[in-house]
Amino acid sequence: MDLNGNLEVNIDDLSKLAFKGFMADEEAGRLYELAKDAARFGPCLEIGSYCGRSAAYLGTGCREAGGVLFSVDHHQGSEEQQPGQEYYDPDLLDPATGRINTFPLFCRTILELSLQDTVIPIVARSEVVARFWQTPLSLIFIDGGHAFETVFSDYSAWVSHLKPGGYLIIHDIFPDPAKGGQAPYCVYNMALASGLFFELPMVQTLGVLQRAPAGSLTDESKTRWGRLQT
Ligand SMILES: C[S@@+](CC[C@H](N)C(=O)[O-])C[C@H]1O[C@@H](n2cnc3c(N)ncnc32)[C@H](O)[C@@H]1O
Repeated sequence: MDLNGNLEVNIDDLSKLAFKGFMADEEAGRLYELAKDAARFGPCLEIGSYCGRSAAYLGTGCREAGGVLFSVDHHQGSEEQQPGQEYYDPDLLDPATGRINTFPLFCRTILELSLQDTVIPIVARSEVVARFWQTPLSLIFIDGGHAFETVFSDYSAWVSHLKPGGYLIIHDIFPDPAKGGQAPYCVYNMALASGLFFELPMVQTLGVLQRAPAGSLTDESKTRWGRLQT
């Protein structure tokens, strides 16, 4: 129990709790595992905190490994979460401003899980934070805005901070356009085509790439070179 009287929960407790959010349980469980592995080597970072569902899982993994998670969100909601849009939730509208504000609920989630010494919120647009960022990261989870310009900007602005061996995770990968928007899938493929990543098994719509150690050849790099030799 922490100073606020909240319990430190583990992964089994987490799966029994309800959070506002869009991520499947299996995807959330995989985030926990990846964060627990990565956080031994450096800080983790997510783009898209919303009400704290992914931060709860990533943060619990980080805490168990003695690491931290930076969680970046302007907390004003994405395009599809605005009034009248598909993912609008009236509970998240601030009556004082008439705008979406997910920060109070995010803070409550972190406090209730006693993650306040592990999950560090950054309330700002991802691209602004990235411009001044200097710290190498062991894991980057992209789940912010889903327009192509936003997903690509999140990828291009942050990827240079990922350590060799670190994980790049992108949510909402839909190879079938009938099942969902194509921007995250397009950016996932761009990362893969760079030849800098190994592809790990997807978990539902969670795409998982691992940055190759410096100087090592990935399948993509070998395939591209092989094509030139025939
Ligand atoms: C799909 S939700 C994130 C869901 C969250 N990962 C979860 O598991 O519950 C997307 C979030 O990204 C945030 N967002 C969208 N564009 C952003 C940007 N450019 N910079 C920072 N946050 C952004 C929105 O405010 C929203 O809270």
